[in-house]
Amino acid sequence: MTVPRQSIRSSRSLSPASSALPGASTRAVHAGSSRHKPHHALTTPIFQTATFTFADTADLLAFVEGRYSDGEERREEYGRYGNPTIAAVERKLAALDGGDNAVLYASGMAAITSVLLASLPTGAHIIMTDDCYRRTRQFCQTYLQRLGIATTVVPMGDYAGMEAAIQAGRTRYLISETPTNPFLRVADLSRIAEIGQRYGVRTIIDSTFATPVNLRPLEWGIDLVIHSATKYLAGHNDLLAGVVIGRGGILQALREARGILGSVVDPQNAFLLERGLKTLALRVRQQNATAHTVAQYLERHPKIRRVWYPGLPSHPDHEIAAAQMSGFGGVVTFEIDGTLQDTSRFIDAMRIPYIAPSLGGVESLIEQPAIISYYDQSPEERAALGIADSLVRLAIGIEDAEDILEDLEQALQVV
Ligand SMILES: Cc1ncc(COP(=O)(O)O)c(C=O)c1O
Repeated sequence: MTVPRQSIRSSRSLSPASSALPGASTRAVHAGSSRHKPHHALTTPIFQTATFTFADTADLLAFVEGRYSDGEERREEYGRYGNPTIAAVERKLAALDGGDNAVLYASGMAAITSVLLASLPTGAHIIMTDDCYRRTRQFCQTYLQRLGIATTVVPMGDYAGMEAAIQAGRTRYLISETPTNPFLRVADLSRIAEIGQRYGVRTIIDSTFATPVNLRPLEWGIDLVIHSATKYLAGHNDLLAGVVIGRGGILQALREARGILGSVVDPQNAFLLERGLKTLALRVRQQNATAHTVAQYLERHPKIRRVWYPGLPSHPDHEIAAAQMSGFGGVVTFEIDGTLQDTSRFIDAMRIPYIAPSLGGVESLIEQPAIISYYDQSPEERAALGIADSLVRLAIGIEDAEDILEDLEQALQVV
């Protein structure tokens, strides 16, 4: 893997340097976790409480006057402002992505909407790449527009177009996902960071599909990383959460805004997320390997028209992915050589994956985007977005690769 560009490294403080960090699994298990937990517990307790008490008025005064010291832990006041279980998982998430701070939210969308609502003034302008999560685009083009905040969507990979779209004094964010959904387009983070730095515009990457095991955008000069923690980070298809990770003062401002917007996650889900995170690297490495094998198998299959997987040389962003990512992810998108109905028959014949939206959990999930996400749009609208009737998105779980290959083989026979 090539290292991040020197110009970007030297223009920012990239501490801790990625090479000095412990491995992803060591961080996933230990980072952010205090060695001395209440009652000598090994795991972080669930502090299932809405509020936190003060011994007397002197104790309260020490807190409000900023004189409080409670060891290494932050002293909490009220559940909407913070909770020790949430704080523990925030520290772990920050360490995994190489940030110095993280703010956890009730869902990925809560993270995205809170960051934009909390930090954009009326009259601002943002630029985002296409092929992004539909609800993010919807939020920007409807809710933000109502607040007088304009969004320009530029094609993924068109960096000259991104630069040309910048409006001096008005553009506040360059936003992209990587890899994208469903075509797994990979953004060149060096170029986005460089454009952002040159024009003084903050950069945000939704890194949900990559995970910090495969890519750490902060190391490439990006300002803020967002994840739907619902997906790989939690990893078990059993909770919703979102996170923003970065460095410096903006995170404190976002934490304060979360206390007002109320988009806080509950302590039970924070506990489950921390537990899921401990196996993140194990899961993601297996998902990377299985997805790569599946993509290669599908590309050779006579009943498959086309495969999108950044690990394949045929993918339009293979070179960038190979240079910037240490794994290509667990999602494979492909087109069946058949009709909408043939494709549904193939999906119905699959025995291992569940038919469901989402990705990143231990169970494989399969979906036909024309039906699950874009059914409300006309065939013409779907075609304009490149969503063919025969498109399939397979989000690989942690089942054995041979079993998934066998399942695909038998299901493709019905086409
Ligand atoms: C890339 C991406 N970002 C954000 C979200 C929203 O996350 P959540 O469902 O946790 O709100 C999703 C959900 O699918 C997603 O795929």
